[in-house]
Amino acid sequence: MRRRKLGRTGLEVSELGYGAWGIGADMWSGSTDAEALASLRRALEAGVNFFDTAYVYGDGHSEELIAQAFKAAGRRALVATKVPPKNLSWIASRRIEDAFTPEWVVSCTERSLKKLSVERVEVQQLHTWTDDWLGQPALDDVVSALDKLKRDGKIRFWGVSIKARDPKSALGLARSGLPDTMQVVFNLFEQEPQGELFPLCREKGIGVIARVPFDEGGLTGKLREDAAFPEGDFRHSYFAGRYLAETVRRAKELEQRLVGGDTPDLAHAALRFCLSAPEVSTVIPGMRTPAHVDANAAVTRLPPYPAETLKELRAHAWKRDLAPA
Ligand SMILES: NC(=O)c1ccc[n+]([C@@H]2O[C@H](COP(=O)([O-])OP(=O)(O)OC[C@H]3O[C@@H](n4cnc5c(N)ncnc54)[C@H](OP(=O)(O)O)[C@@H]3O)[C@@H](O)[C@H]2O)c1
Repeated sequence: MRRRKLGRTGLEVSELGYGAWGIGADMWSGSTDAEALASLRRALEAGVNFFDTAYVYGDGHSEELIAQAFKAAGRRALVATKVPPKNLSWIASRRIEDAFTPEWVVSCTERSLKKLSVERVEVQQLHTWTDDWLGQPALDDVVSALDKLKRDGKIRFWGVSIKARDPKSALGLARSGLPDTMQVVFNLFEQEPQGELFPLCREKGIGVIARVPFDEGGLTGKLREDAAFPEGDFRHSYFAGRYLAETVRRAKELEQRLVGGDTPDLAHAALRFCLSAPEVSTVIPGMRTPAHVDANAAVTRLPPYPAETLKELRAHAWKRDLAPA
């Protein structure tokens, strides 16, 4: 498994990272702990050394499963977790203190360390962000708390996971160079981060963690127009109304263009696209089965897409701006 630098952190992370939302099992139906543990084990065996989780993924359940997998394997890998906003508002309220305070950041970090059964986590991320918070005095207190967690040896680095499909909401933060990492939605549909965010991250040495590479399953080639997700499964609303048919139609166009030769399916193409951006340190698909780990690990052996292909793929970019019907 090839590795890349996680920005200025000095950490070397596997190109394929492990997205551990689905295994938390509260918002993705069909997860079992046994299969999650088998997938985590397979990922470690395949050379995946970076696992992205969050306390909110099953109220610590995803973190606990990672701890169990590391224990069973007799070794641990790099972990990034997240502090949820206090008010659980993912769109990020105007005042930072509604979402993050020093006490909250510290207590959530302690809670995650317990769930993960570790003394220190490599990356602690604020689970949402808006540039409205830049310049607010309360931000300095939050940054001081994160710096103290570093000095106390509880975290090595900190970053932010920015709002879905709104990379502009964190350009100021990137420009400030404050965080060590930024996690951003980046895939064949959501290509905007390449415009301004990635160059800024490169300039400031901020490691880029590319999330949702499959558009929550829309870019795997497996989503069908008659797909149905039970209520309570996050995809029930994500693919609601016209989004499902529109996603399938656009995915088919991409399939026709990209599948063939060394690319057996759209999932391969989707990951290869993400890894073609040199600024991306690691791409973190959700992988709840060992078979998906194997398939996704194979992609890291493919070369990046040539510049002319990437240019052509810009025509497939799509902002999900349809109102759910
Ligand atoms: N706000 C945030 O910070 C935030 C938000 C979202 C995600 N994330 C992070 O990003 C990670 C990735 O995003 P995600 O998991 O939401 O979505 P994703 O990676 O775009 O898609 C996951 C879906 O792809 C399927 N899949 C994986 N590999 C496949 C393959 N080779 N062939 C066919 N299907 C495949 C999975 O199948 P199964 O259903 O069978 O598992 C799952 O349905 C998360 O796990 C989480 O760590 C962070």
